[in-house]
Amino acid sequence: MADQGFTVEEIDTSRPHPARMYDYYLGGKDNYEVDREAAQQVIHLLPDAVPSARANRAFMHRAVRFLAESGIRQIIDIGTGIPTSPNTHQVAHDVSPDVRVAYIDNDPIVATHAGAHLLGTSNTGFFLGDLRDPESILQHPTIGKLIDFDQPVGLMLVAILHFIRDDEDPAGLVAAYRDALPAGSHLIFSHPTADFHAPGTGSEEAADVYRQSKATATFNLRTHAELVALCEGFDLVDPGLVQLPLWRPDGPVPTKRELSHIGGYGAVGVKN
Ligand SMILES: C[S@@+](CC[C@H](N)C(=O)[O-])C[C@H]1O[C@@H](n2cnc3c(N)ncnc32)[C@H](O)[C@@H]1O
Repeated sequence: MADQGFTVEEIDTSRPHPARMYDYYLGGKDNYEVDREAAQQVIHLLPDAVPSARANRAFMHRAVRFLAESGIRQIIDIGTGIPTSPNTHQVAHDVSPDVRVAYIDNDPIVATHAGAHLLGTSNTGFFLGDLRDPESILQHPTIGKLIDFDQPVGLMLVAILHFIRDDEDPAGLVAAYRDALPAGSHLIFSHPTADFHAPGTGSEEAADVYRQSKATATFNLRTHAELVALCEGFDLVDPGLVQLPLWRPDGPVPTKRELSHIGGYGAVGVKN
């Protein structure tokens, strides 16, 4: 844990943080009053925030399993979030215990929980890093220790790119990571959207809570076409970019009514 580079004092509890708000949606306890207040405002405007967060986490589990079953043995999980069991390495290790996982997040509170929940084995690592600085992530010593760029890599950008504004060039960021990976590498991608909500039903208003509450990040909803464009350079495996529960469901397919409460897309792609 020597490379984590954080202290508990760095946690800013004066402003809501998306990691802790997401933790609250998932029913976790690692959040502060300021996060709960902002999350409650979002839920009030958009009750679908909770089922959407849970559908996102379930998608992430199915997609990680798919990667491990497809032979991927090393994963970079950027914006991993406050650990919520099962985490990426636990899902992957169910398939094959030799999968190596490098976890990255920019929130010190994630770091405080990493030791207990993300670093249980020698083939996992965590460090504080920012998605918007690909070079410092790709060249980090923990990446050097865990990831062999001559072998296919699993890159996880799961529910993180909506924190990147258009003027921060999300497509350029995805490309910077993609270009560092060999062919056959996989992308796991998910992103919230307002595509399934009628105008005025809360999605944009809920996004405004993130923007106006001085949360440490903005919140950018995107359309199907915009998100497909972000996956450029990856061939999406069936069924493509779809509403989260429809990506290779491993149980009963959700009803139309249940689907109407899920505001997010997910996809898995293979670098061509
Ligand atoms: C909604 S959570 C998603 C957690 C997990 N990937 C999942 O889908 O279950 C988003 C995470 O991204 C992190 N995050 C937001 N912006 C980031 C950035 N620029 N660099 C690194 N992490 C970031 C947040 O701290 C948070 O933990």
